[in-house]
Amino acid sequence: MSKIEQTLSIIKPDAVERNLQDQIKQEFTNKGFEIIKEKKIHISKEEAERFYKVHETKPFYNDLCSYLSSGPIIVMTLQRENAVVENRKLMGATNPVDAEEGTLRKKYGISIDKNSVHGSDSPENAKIELDFFFNH
Ligand code: CMP
Repeated sequence: MSKIEQTLSIIKPDAVERNLQDQIKQEFTNKGFEIIKEKKIHISKEEAERFYKVHETKPFYNDLCSYLSSGPIIVMTLQRENAVVENRKLMGATNPVDAEEGTLRKKYGISIDKNSVHGSDSPENAKIELDFFFNH
């Protein structure tokens, strides 16, 4: 059964730097997502470390946090039926070289780090990630 859900989306520094935010937002609305909230922010490395804490044991953690805090990002609350899964389908695989044609990471991603967008990976994490950016 489908249900209306919310998920967190981030347009990452590589995409904002290339001024792709309007194009990417259009891709979301074309797929039936409603952008309920959005803001442009530039987070500190400490905030990035808190956001990506689940990855703290990974070898790429430090670079990942430096990267997310390297420039402005757009954070959004996206809403539609099955938003978490549908957003992950639209984004495509984490590494743009593995992403299917038509997905955001295939179209806009540059590398596994500069993969243009982040999306929550489960409804539980969506709640945590939305709280992180919008309820503090
Ligand atoms: P994201 O969906 O934002 O979640 C964590 C990020 O870590 C991921 O996108 C990638 O940009 C980045 N990353 C870098 N190296 C790896 C890796 N080897 N495996 C998974 N994610 C990686």
